[in-house]
Amino acid sequence: MKKVLTFDFNNMMSGMIGKDGITQQQIDSQLANAQKAHAKVTAEAGQGWQGWMDLPYNQDKIADDIIACANGVREKFDTFVVLGIGGSALGPSAVFNALRHLRYNDLPKEKRGGPKFYVEDNVDPERMASLLDVIDVEKTMFNVITKSGATSETMAQFLIIYDLLKQKLGDKANQHIIATTDQNKGNLIKIAKQEGFPTFYIPDGVGGRFSEFCPVGLLPAAVLGIDIKLMLQGAKDMDQMCRTDDIAKNPALFASLLMHVAMETGHNISVMMPYADSLRLISDWYCQLWAESLGKSVDYDGKLVYAGQTPVKALGVTDQHSQVQLYTEGPFDKVIILLAVNNFRATVDIPHGFADIPDVNFLCGSTMNKLINTEMEATEYALTKAGRLNMRITLDSVDEYSLGQLLYFFMLHTAYSGAMLNINTYNQPGVEEGKKATYAMFGKQGYEAKKQELDSAPKKDQKYII
Ligand code: PA5
Repeated sequence: MKKVLTFDFNNMMSGMIGKDGITQQQIDSQLANAQKAHAKVTAEAGQGWQGWMDLPYNQDKIADDIIACANGVREKFDTFVVLGIGGSALGPSAVFNALRHLRYNDLPKEKRGGPKFYVEDNVDPERMASLLDVIDVEKTMFNVITKSGATSETMAQFLIIYDLLKQKLGDKANQHIIATTDQNKGNLIKIAKQEGFPTFYIPDGVGGRFSEFCPVGLLPAAVLGIDIKLMLQGAKDMDQMCRTDDIAKNPALFASLLMHVAMETGHNISVMMPYADSLRLISDWYCQLWAESLGKSVDYDGKLVYAGQTPVKALGVTDQHSQVQLYTEGPFDKVIILLAVNNFRATVDIPHGFADIPDVNFLCGSTMNKLINTEMEATEYALTKAGRLNMRITLDSVDEYSLGQLLYFFMLHTAYSGAMLNINTYNQPGVEEGKKATYAMFGKQGYEAKKQELDSAPKKDQKYII
């Protein structure tokens, strides 16, 4: 295994940040809980909703099919659009942003080397209209991704696009859709069979937010020319590294233990702050993973626990000029996760000039690379001096292998943390009520009682509407 990530937990400790920091005694008191969580997650690997833990090992054959399909798309189409939402959209977006040119879609075709790429992670009419303004559907391949095959937002996106394709291409419309969904359940699989769409399956036991290493993430990545086998290798190596319950050797478990103590001591917010634009959308992906997995009202014993930690997105250095004031002087309720990169894929020199103005000149002759990493270290220092919990994960460079390791690390970290909290990491009952209310308001069959419930809910008081 290549060591491409470094986990630095120093600044979580009281020895570094003082009274708000974690003590050895607190670590010792949670060690048994962490080891129990590790045993549970390891024993259930590949079972139930932990099917995602098999993905680094069982996607090899399907990866070949995906690469063959992706090569066909790269040859024939100008644009590739993902239709999906939540876990069916955030991984593909994050990987695209991390591993392709930061202005990929603005590059001319020969420099891009693959189709333009869009992910439609919403049902904002302006967003859909704007997509249709910039793409030629006749030269576009659409990948509809939904595990349940029933998500209203994704089905709405699909209905709009397929109708348009049929208007333009008639019975050739089905050559512009690839479905990624459950093999047996849901409506998309029925439609895919009826319409003859090529289909990739989301394996059993793989929920949306844990799906990046199956066709959900692998097909869009392969279409972009990303080496998906190397990503899977990174995930596999992280999985192997975390087979031990020795926290000194298992970074995901150590991070979970520290986060658990932090949550228990009122640190209800985790800020994901990459110091690299390429990792900006990893924060969005992490936010869903962490929020939807850990935000639960009851634990496995039926006890009301209202568990979870609110994830917040930040970007270094941009948010030094926006949020860092709060992080150093506001409430002691946060853990800041700094993501750093040693080697950027570009080096930009800061030229000489204005030698007579020292406040400008001190930058001259250096590089942006040095500036961004110096600012990261300086912010880390400032946070530590202000007694704020922070940790740093450093990537040697952002590539397929390191990203595979990083994403898998966060999945395991989430799984261990859920187990330490004794909650169900894999359900999302809190989003069901809103879904049902939408169905009722839209007049979906079977939701008549819910509609009645909504109609009899307290009405808004005009006096509070100005
Ligand atoms: O993580 C999850 O399970 C959810 O966020 C889903 O990804 C999201 O609701 C979309 O679901 P589906 O893939 O079934 O359309």
